[in-house]
Amino acid sequence: MVRQKIPEAEARRLLGGAPVLLVTTRWQAASNVFAVAWAMPVSTNPPLLAIAVHPSRHSHDMISFGESFAINIPARVLLNHTQWVGMVSGMQMEKLDVARLPHFRAKEVEAPLIEGCVGWIECTVSDTFTTGDHTLFVGKIVAAHVDTEAWDAERKVWSLTDEEYQPLHYLGGQSYAMLDSVFDSEVEARSADQMEEEGFGKELEEAEAERRRKREEAEQSRAESEQRGEEEVSPAKAPRERPEG
Ligand SMILES: Cc1cc2nc3c(=O)[nH]c(=O)nc-3n(C[C@H](O)[C@H](O)[C@H](O)COP(=O)(O)O)c2cc1C
Repeated sequence: MVRQKIPEAEARRLLGGAPVLLVTTRWQAASNVFAVAWAMPVSTNPPLLAIAVHPSRHSHDMISFGESFAINIPARVLLNHTQWVGMVSGMQMEKLDVARLPHFRAKEVEAPLIEGCVGWIECTVSDTFTTGDHTLFVGKIVAAHVDTEAWDAERKVWSLTDEEYQPLHYLGGQSYAMLDSVFDSEVEARSADQMEEEGFGKELEEAEAERRRKREEAEQSRAESEQRGEEEVSPAKAPRERPEG
């Protein structure tokens, strides 16, 4: 394994892969929508989440003045719309109309909710912080909805059974991804003694040993093929027989 240093400013990309959000707003009879990747839950009770918004975004003002916003979690059908609303500003146009994004009324906030999404979260702004060059809007969740095709209500996780009803995830740049499958860990909380007794972590050592073995094999076969390459080259490099005559 080769560990490579990457620039500090690029490290945020390692956190890529979260669901991308279409954040809608409404203020003074105008609506807007923009793409957001920087979002996270920040409290269970009260239920709060936070989104990081650059002050240059038109949505920044819409959220500040309107004091509410809605999160729409798009499925893949909205891939290009997501990228587009994340590239142009609502300062110049009504993006929802231009992109012909069908929408419907929210329950508790003024911001419209977008069709073709698999989840919706309505928020009122409960706090605002400046974090470096972004503003962190903390939203109090006042209503939330899911598409039942997309959500496993029993396990309270995305069901991922049908591609059409899966949340779209964002990796960075223009790259997106979908989750592959759901699997559960079967581990239970247990004492240190029990863990020792059961040999907890052994499989990790075994997996590491297997990885090491594979790496060594690969290195060896690379070295062998390099050597073979040299051997193939060497006859050509060998002194030519003196031409007849
Ligand atoms: C996939 C994606 C994710 C984005 N995430 C964020 C984000 O988390 N915060 C932010 O301020 N801008 C983010 N942007 C950029 C804004 O969506 C973009 O500047 C948008 O044009 C702002 O629109 P507005 O001026 O109408 O608000 C993202 C863009 C894309 C394409």
